[in-house]
Amino acid sequence: MENRAEKRRIVLVPVAAQGHVTPMMQLGKALQSKGFSITIAQRQLKQISSSLQHVPGFDFVTIPESLPQFESKKLGPAEFLMNLNRTSEASFKECISQLLLQQGNDIACIIYDKLMYFCEAAAKDFNLPSIIFSTSSATIQVCYSVLSKLNAEKFLTDMKDPEMKDKMLEGLHPLRYSDLPTSGFGPLEPLLEMCKEVVNTRTASAIIINTAYCLESSSLSWLQQELGITVYSLGPLHTTSSLLEPSLLQEDRSCVEWLNKQKPRSVIYISLGSKAHMETKEMLEMAWGLANSNQPFLWVIRPGSILSFDGTESLLDEISKIVSERGYIVKWAPQIEVLGHPAVRGFWSHCGWNSILESILEGVPMICRPFQGEQKLNAMYVESVWRIGIQVGGEVERGSVERAVKRLMMDEEGAAMRERVLDLKEKLNASVRSGGSSYNAFDELVKYLNTNQR
Ligand code: UDX
Repeated sequence: MENRAEKRRIVLVPVAAQGHVTPMMQLGKALQSKGFSITIAQRQLKQISSSLQHVPGFDFVTIPESLPQFESKKLGPAEFLMNLNRTSEASFKECISQLLLQQGNDIACIIYDKLMYFCEAAAKDFNLPSIIFSTSSATIQVCYSVLSKLNAEKFLTDMKDPEMKDKMLEGLHPLRYSDLPTSGFGPLEPLLEMCKEVVNTRTASAIIINTAYCLESSSLSWLQQELGITVYSLGPLHTTSSLLEPSLLQEDRSCVEWLNKQKPRSVIYISLGSKAHMETKEMLEMAWGLANSNQPFLWVIRPGSILSFDGTESLLDEISKIVSERGYIVKWAPQIEVLGHPAVRGFWSHCGWNSILESILEGVPMICRPFQGEQKLNAMYVESVWRIGIQVGGEVERGSVERAVKRLMMDEEGAAMRERVLDLKEKLNASVRSGGSSYNAFDELVKYLNTNQR
């Protein structure tokens, strides 16, 4: 039996949300395969705790919750996050002190999600190396840097001027002012404050980003210069780790059987990730548009993802009638397997970063319907930089849904996008193969973690 105490320990601190937990667990698994012990320090959240316990070979510790629930409900997302960071410093220090007291528990590094910057105080106090992990794109990190230097009042005035909105951010082609992700975090001022905190590297020695040079070379080079710490761009992580997705919701595998019965490259897969919501009216328009497109489709409708409606079951009945035999609906799908299925041809996505990486790696072009924050930026990259998808803007309305599906699934335009995404897939795969940029970055990270002594 292996003696885990002899291995050097990495403490990972994820954000308790699917899109953040998944890459963090993948990083843990990849480091475990290089001989490190992995401890996940997680906040006291029932949903996430129970699903994470399935990850074999990881240890788990809980960071006690210090932000009272009633208080957190009143805050906007940016304020909530800053409060959480303020109030979690002491309890995380206590966690680390307990871990260090355990015999042979030598901590090689604390790697924390960039939003969990409270970890840095413990790393500093106990003189432990620390690394930031950005689970989303390099470009969003660039945007946070830009936002952190803006004046809220001036920015709001500037954004009323159409010329200013379209203006390029200096030295940051192809980013325009209007691409800066400011929606979905509540009022602007706390968001800019939050950005200041998130881009502050404090005493961290490096930042890991789940991306690759072939996707975002200019943003990565910019960050390397701007941050003054090592940037390890080692994504997409799910290709380097053999971990099964740590899914927070139960996957319905019946959809794979349904896909098995469909013609090759005939299905459009629709999923809006783990957080996005749609209004009842939009769901019905979406259902009609999909049905009218005459393409078979697999649609993930997550519990609680429909707003302004309490009778979800009867709405689902209504949607099922509209979509009839062409559509198949599940509450949660094994997404990577679905995207890699030979029957799938297109992906209607909210453009979460993980979904984008997964879609590119399976060579599936996209219809982008971003909801908030960085998703709009990701969608801009899909449509205008990599040219592997189209965006659907404005109100969700059956005609525009039908047209978008047909453009992607039936038109030459869609076929060209498919060619380009296959090309990008090849580049991305090359970057994680021996000698590729992500492969080398991971190697360097492991060397750093092995040689860096307290
Ligand atoms: C959130 C933000 O929305 C996103 O923009 C950010 O980049 C990460 O945090 P989320 O909305 O959940 O993430 O989207 P995404 O990043 O795409 O992650 C969703 C994950 O859930 C993917 O790994 C996907 O494979 C998985 N998934 C989704 C399933 O396994 N099954 C499903 O049915 C839907």
